[in-house]
Amino acid sequence: MTELHDAVNRGLLTWAVRDSLLRYVTVIARGSYTVEGGAAVTTDGAITFPLRRAAQKEGQWRLSFAGSVRFEAHHGFLDVLIADPELVAGPEGGVLSARTDVDGTTTLIAATGTEEPEHNDVDLTWTMNDVHLLESGVELFGGVYPAGTDMAPLKVRVSLDS
Ligand code: HEM
Repeated sequence: MTELHDAVNRGLLTWAVRDSLLRYVTVIARGSYTVEGGAAVTTDGAITFPLRRAAQKEGQWRLSFAGSVRFEAHHGFLDVLIADPELVAGPEGGVLSARTDVDGTTTLIAATGTEEPEHNDVDLTWTMNDVHLLESGVELFGGVYPAGTDMAPLKVRVSLDS
């Protein structure tokens, strides 16, 4: 594994999880979502997570991000945590995982398609439009979305020191 974290000076994962979820939580259920640990909310409501580490091995990237988002509604009945997301992706597709509780349980949330990253010596940009909920991620959203449900696109930008 080639560790690139020394060479990476910044990067970001942008993910809105699922547009209808953001709307449901904030408008229908009158709840909210909050970010911590370096995560932020964009003007259109998506969440950004700062890059912690990037590594590449045989065309496969492991991109680890920091920060968390927590969705809360229905007086605490709805409480969904997505923390420290990690994307492992290569030519055959990838998987987005995250820590989903305070005990550190990691959940494989979504599968990504085979879209290729664009990269040169200074930048890696990767837009994954084909993102689907995995069976292992169903419980995280209360069992409401079946496996295979379309999730929001994942956008990755990593700047590499040359
Ligand atoms: C008091 C408890 C709850 C009530 C009254 C409730 C009510 C509802 C209602 C009425 C909808 C349909 C909204 C619409 O599209 O019009 C819905 C959707 C949904 N609920 Fe709940 N819910 C509750 C708890 C939960 C919990 C604990 C979760 C766990 C994550 C959850 C996750 C969802 C999700 C993911 C949707 C689909 C949102 C979408 O994408 O449209 N709900 N809920």
